[in-house]
Amino acid sequence: MNLDGLRVAVTGAGRDTGRLLAEAFAERGAQLFLSARSLAAAEHVAGVIRRRGPGQAEAFRCDLGKADSVRAFAAALADRTEHLDVLINNGAAYIDGDDVGDVPDEQIESVMAAGGTGTILLTKHLLPLLRASPRPDIVNVISACGEVGHRRSGAHPAFYAAKHAHAGFAEILSHRLRPEGIRVISLFPPDFVQDGPRQANSDLTARSVVDCVLFAVGQPRDCFIREFRFEQVRH
Ligand SMILES: NC(=O)c1ccc[n+]([C@@H]2O[C@H](COP(=O)([O-])OP(=O)(O)OC[C@H]3O[C@@H](n4cnc5c(N)ncnc54)[C@H](OP(=O)(O)O)[C@@H]3O)[C@@H](O)[C@H]2O)c1
Repeated sequence: MNLDGLRVAVTGAGRDTGRLLAEAFAERGAQLFLSARSLAAAEHVAGVIRRRGPGQAEAFRCDLGKADSVRAFAAALADRTEHLDVLINNGAAYIDGDDVGDVPDEQIESVMAAGGTGTILLTKHLLPLLRASPRPDIVNVISACGEVGHRRSGAHPAFYAAKHAHAGFAEILSHRLRPEGIRVISLFPPDFVQDGPRQANSDLTARSVVDCVLFAVGQPRDCFIREFRFEQVRH
């Protein structure tokens, strides 16, 4: 797949799935705008991408839990490019815990702020750049925790709530932006591993999640894949 010159922004790109997504797009020639809470982490990944080519990468700081940081990232992007083809809402803080009282209030606030409000604000502030693209896509890396009725994860209830907020936002956005030709593509993976065998009896891997994103973004414009749902391995 040739994604030559495609302009792609990824949140939470300093490590793990966000980094893999950025590298996969760059391998196919895309121009990446990488954001992470730590500018050093984003710069490290951008440096690796630039050395490998053929895609390009620039690094930005963005803490999705802080509205000012989100707006500053969107403004910095608008200074660098007149359009954005793909926004990948990937960054989200994870917390474990059966009981809602298992974590301090501040952690609940930051999980909701990043996965809920921050993701909505970033999408809002980047919409003008996406509207200027001839092929705009908004990709949401949500979670099976954002599916109605899902109970199989050990994630904290606030993580479930943040993912439901993200899912609700993505669902209505998909419908509202359809007439403009902006595709809103959401993934609801269960717990997955960064690396591992890609066999029928193995856990989903980040590489397979990335391949789903590449597949959806690579489709011709008549093909609007709204959601990826996954059947989890039975443990
Ligand atoms: N791994 C799984 O099993 C799984 C399953 C379903 C869905 N997901 C979702 O898939 C996405 C990527 O997962 P992953 O496995 O790569 O997750 P991860 O290893 O937990 O990494 C989370 C990413 O989000 C970033 N992040 C956390 N809080 C942030 C904030 N306030 N502002 C900006 N970025 C923030 C982290 O950056 P820092 O380096 O700064 O912490 C990191 O890049 C997430 O949305 C996650 O919820 C993951």
